[in-house]
Amino acid sequence: MSSSHVLSEPAILYFGTPVVLVGTSNEDGTANLAPISSAFWLGWRCVIGISASSKTTANLRRTGECTLNLPSAAEAAAVDRIARTTGSNPVPPRKLARGYAFEPDKFARAGLTPLDSQTVAAPRAQECPIHLEAAVTARHGLADDTPALRGQIEVVELRVTRVHVRPDLLMDGQPNRIDPDRWNPLIMSFQKFYGLSSGQVHASRLADIPESAYRSPDVDRARDDAPCET
Ligand SMILES: Cc1cc2nc3c(=O)[nH]c(=O)nc-3n(C[C@H](O)[C@H](O)[C@H](O)COP(=O)(O)O)c2cc1C
Repeated sequence: MSSSHVLSEPAILYFGTPVVLVGTSNEDGTANLAPISSAFWLGWRCVIGISASSKTTANLRRTGECTLNLPSAAEAAAVDRIARTTGSNPVPPRKLARGYAFEPDKFARAGLTPLDSQTVAAPRAQECPIHLEAAVTARHGLADDTPALRGQIEVVELRVTRVHVRPDLLMDGQPNRIDPDRWNPLIMSFQKFYGLSSGQVHASRLADIPESAYRSPDVDRARDDAPCET
């Protein structure tokens, strides 16, 4: 069987994933906020891929916690305002070469409002329609099999301890179900920003399984995560 596909060597393989703004606390108690798009979700866990040289990664190591703020397509400009910035001072050489600048107040630069969290010290970003609070449960290296890449990227597993949702995104009368027809995540695809087209493109057999069948024991466990002292 022949195919019209051709071999290609794209330098990046960012085929399109939602943007997440990771909120963390700096050593001096100020906040950092960093856009990432290497994130996926299973149960009440989130796995993120993040550069080892990022301020966020240092904060995650030190504090063991963060917020995950999900911008919709409407918040693209705010995300873009903190693109190519870092909370690290001095700016790591690889970032300097790509035109990154030190920004100690990413919330102000983005035009986003910090909001207290319940179980973590890191603030949430009010304007994002969905906020999650989370605790670090595991960390691994990525590409440790290649000496030139070893130590550059970390894969961090996070256990979600709270989910905050803007009420207009919930299904009518269903406080625990987000309506995908109302949720328009900001997508980064090959470094550019996109939203989703409205409506489903096809019926989904997977969606015939009730969402409640996926409820993780982590959901009950999260209720035991005590509110942190403010
Ligand atoms: C839309 C977008 C997506 C990004 N995705 C990632 C990512 O998945 N992982 C990563 O390490 N950096 C990602 N970056 C780059 C980080 O934002 C960048 O390393 C930033 O300096 C981190 O901030 P910090 O050093 O203050 O933690 C992304 C940037 C943008 C604008």
